[in-house]
Amino acid sequence: MSGSKRIVVITGGSKGIGRAICLRFAREGAGIIFVHYDPDDIKANETLGLLDKMGVEAKAKKLDVSSFGDVEEFFQEVIREFQRVDVLVNNAGITRDAFLMRMSEDQWDQALLVNLKGVFNFTKAATRSMIKVRSGRIINISSVVGQIGNIGQSNYAASKAGIMGFTKSVALELATRGITVNAVAPGFVDTEMTKNLPEKAREAFLSRIPMGRIGKPDEVAETVYWLASDSANYITGQVIHVNGGLYM
Ligand SMILES: NC(=O)c1ccc[n+]([C@@H]2O[C@H](COP(=O)([O-])OP(=O)(O)OC[C@H]3O[C@@H](n4cnc5c(N)ncnc54)[C@H](O)[C@@H]3O)[C@@H](O)[C@H]2O)c1
Repeated sequence: MSGSKRIVVITGGSKGIGRAICLRFAREGAGIIFVHYDPDDIKANETLGLLDKMGVEAKAKKLDVSSFGDVEEFFQEVIREFQRVDVLVNNAGITRDAFLMRMSEDQWDQALLVNLKGVFNFTKAATRSMIKVRSGRIINISSVVGQIGNIGQSNYAASKAGIMGFTKSVALELATRGITVNAVAPGFVDTEMTKNLPEKAREAFLSRIPMGRIGKPDEVAETVYWLASDSANYITGQVIHVNGGLYM
């Protein structure tokens, strides 16, 4: 992995939206490095197999995005091996749903640690090398829930709204350094995360989507890819909503 290929780091790339993002960047022949934190490597190996079929070089690592030290170490390895990171996509995320009155401290902490601190850890580490070359693209995956809230998801909503504020602040800090920082806020997308929703909650969500259907991971990946392309050179600090009209 070297030469003129872009080097793209994606968190949560083993499945769902993260996998679709890996495959989208692979279509341009980029070098793909993704992390995941599944209990086993089955899905990560599936993604690696798909990337291999596309003829791109790819690497996967099991890593908890919320561990500051592990993320620092991971980036040192990446820079040693590939010299640079052109694009960072902060996609890893979890839900730990409960009504506020029943939400445990651990459920709150887990959602915030993975969804928000994970974005801080990766952005800080990637920015160091991007600043040196005065170029880079950072795309953070937020959620419509960070904008409109959701019953049983106060922790998740707080983490995803936090990503929006973080994105805008870092975009301001890096605007003169050739680095753009944007967020993509998907609506309701067909992945394992939403398959686990109770049928009633799923139907309630669907009935609120003006376009009348659930989104596809590829539809989110296309927007991420566009934000990382030259077509989006003058776009920074934005939250792009990909939600079938659920929030306007
Ligand atoms: N599916 C939706 O409807 C939807 C809607 C809006 C936003 N999102 C967001 O999109 C992103 C991807 O969601 P998805 O539906 O594809 O989820 P998913 O559950 O299918 O995949 C999540 C990915 O994140 C990784 N991950 C989880 N915890 C991690 C950790 N501690 N360290 C490293 N990796 C970790 C998993 O290993 C997996 O690769 C998330 O940030 C999610 O909040 C999803």
